[in-house]
Amino acid sequence: MAPYRGADMHQQGDVFPGSFLFGVATAAYQVEGNIENDWAEWERQGKLKQPGMRCGRGVDHWNRYVEDYALARSVGARAFRMSLEWARIEPTRGRMDEAAIDAYRQRLVRMKEAGLRPVVTLHHFTHPTWFHRETPWHLPESVPTFRAYARVCARILEGLDALVVTLNEPMVLLLGGYLRGLIPPGIADGGLAMAALGNIARAHVAAREELLARCGRVELGISQNMLVFAPDRAWHPLDHALTRLAGQAYNHAFVEALLTGELRVNMPGLASTRQTIAGARDSLDYLGVNYYTRTHLRFTARPPFVAMAYRDPFGRGHTDIGWEQYPEGFGKLLREVKSRHGLPVWVTENGIDDRVGDRRALYLHGHWTQLLDAMRNGVDVRGYLHWSLMDNFEWLDGWGPRFGLFAVDFETLERRETPACAYFREVAEGRRLVAPSPLAEPGAARLAAAG
Ligand code: FCB
Repeated sequence: MAPYRGADMHQQGDVFPGSFLFGVATAAYQVEGNIENDWAEWERQGKLKQPGMRCGRGVDHWNRYVEDYALARSVGARAFRMSLEWARIEPTRGRMDEAAIDAYRQRLVRMKEAGLRPVVTLHHFTHPTWFHRETPWHLPESVPTFRAYARVCARILEGLDALVVTLNEPMVLLLGGYLRGLIPPGIADGGLAMAALGNIARAHVAAREELLARCGRVELGISQNMLVFAPDRAWHPLDHALTRLAGQAYNHAFVEALLTGELRVNMPGLASTRQTIAGARDSLDYLGVNYYTRTHLRFTARPPFVAMAYRDPFGRGHTDIGWEQYPEGFGKLLREVKSRHGLPVWVTENGIDDRVGDRRALYLHGHWTQLLDAMRNGVDVRGYLHWSLMDNFEWLDGWGPRFGLFAVDFETLERRETPACAYFREVAEGRRLVAPSPLAEPGAARLAAAG
């Protein structure tokens, strides 16, 4: 078994710069509770992996936000990523809910008072229920619709010096919602998907214009889910070709569109497009990177001609939902972002679903080692936001996965420290990367023994 690279190296250079912010990440639908949107509808239609499952009261963050900000502070966080729920703000098309607007404003002011820099996502997968019926993403009307919502978000964010994420993981929304029909709006159509992607890019531009006009100081970017792709068979040229195409289409094409104004996607047999996105040139102040894992791609003789698998070549053990633990990929992608896009980076998500709680500290150590290494090599990373502060509702997987630094009892909603909290606190407050204590970490002890 191979230990993570750098597992035993913690030397002088392993210090995070003073300006670097450690923080935690959440998203409205996954934590707040009692939201009526397209996902709630999706659940009622029995579309989750466990058809009877509901998000319902979430983990009641809507009422417990003060306690949750304190939890974040207790592990040394100085930034907190949350999202605004469009369905709360605009429950009926064109009718903004002033009480919801005030409630969000009050929460963000409170967050700042608690010593946490707000990182605010405008769109994290969910939509008001009317959206897909009236102005779905594949129609041009979606763009002014999003602009009107963003104008209200600007009121909420005014003067707060927030880091703004206009869109979370547009390629995940596209693949899941428009190419595979697995998440709302449940479409599987390459043509509609490419129309939607162009409009999603235009929605980013519209939101940027609204926020820059109304908010004063604000930094804007998107969160991009980035995967490392690898050929399943090292000797197979088509596996290599797939790997190259997937990396370009999934990781880079959308980011390039927001830097050059040209959206070019080429997924042979699935979807392709070339579109000009007016106003998109240089429309990112930073790139938010969400990194979790690597996937191996294999060319297959029958449609869809590609099979995906999470391998475990180093024997580190898959995460509970079956992802490979591959911290080396984090460093590789960070360097790739620098060489391809030259943008400052915020890590807007990274974490592990770890039910037992004995692998998270080691996972963090492996990823932070890579992060520091990339920073020493010139990648301008401004902060790291851990997914997630606490266990929450994981989309199609519902209440199964446990991504929280704090475990949540889903009956009593009580939040409890996992073993990784002490380690997170030690590094976030000390600003020095140390190895997690093997005694506190049975997972680390196992790895050290085997390594
Ligand atoms: C990301 C999502 C986030 C969470 C993590 C595990 O793709 O942005 O909401 O579900 O995965």
